[in-house]
Amino acid sequence: MKRLEKIYEGKAKIIYSTDNPDLLIQYFKDDATAFNGVKKGTIVDKGVVNNQISSRIFKYLEEKGISTHFVDQPTDREMVVKKLEIVPVEVVMRNVVAGSLAKRTGIAEGTPLKQPIIEFYYKNDPLGDPMINEYHIAAFGWAAPREMEEIKSLGSRINEALSEFFRERKIRLVDFKLEFGRHKGKILLGDEISPDGCRLWDWETGEKMDKDRFRFDLGSVEEKYRQVYRLVCQD
Ligand code: TMP
Ligand code: ASP
Repeated sequence: MKRLEKIYEGKAKIIYSTDNPDLLIQYFKDDATAFNGVKKGTIVDKGVVNNQISSRIFKYLEEKGISTHFVDQPTDREMVVKKLEIVPVEVVMRNVVAGSLAKRTGIAEGTPLKQPIIEFYYKNDPLGDPMINEYHIAAFGWAAPREMEEIKSLGSRINEALSEFFRERKIRLVDFKLEFGRHKGKILLGDEISPDGCRLWDWETGEKMDKDRFRFDLGSVEEKYRQVYRLVCQD
């Protein structure tokens, strides 16, 4: 597989075309941003750690019968993925109140939810990814209603599988963000699943082990990412 030209550079990853028109390479950078790019920095070796964590999780989800874009992890920072036509919707799954949900409702961070919440955000950086609902998605044609049924069902199944996966590693999966896309007519899970897009709390102490450490200058960012890496990848 040959890496050809850069086709897109995002905040945390670069996407390259390959000599196979159905496949792309995601290159994981150490760059970190928060609050829609307002805060910028570097988390040393984040690209390596997030690539290993994401690859491990995608393989686990495939074993559970959930189709993802993952194909191979040829190097530390590269992941070969199926080319997707991205659905421009960020899907957030929540199990515990935190982040923007705590802010929006005034309900204390750490409050467990009686059932998981699914939220949708329009994937648009200049607009700061505003929250939307299924009516917006249908009215603007971002995804067909039957695709949204599939996305919601996959979101719930992924949440159940990953909550168990992290619980076995003494980590509470508080919330996380997913992206989906179409490949040969099928909806696949895309992007990455790493401490950048998840809230992960130590099961015993409640200590944050995710990008909130960078967002809010809590310190030990690299150490906590590496701890998640060890718990996820070295079992
Ligand atoms: P929020 O509480 O800030 O809305 O975030 C919910 C989850 O989504 C959290 O695990 C972090 C993740 N997330 C992203 O991956 N990208 C984003 O741009 C935002 C705002 C959140
Ligand atoms: N990913 C977004 C950013 O880069 C927001 C965040 O993760 O806080 O700014």
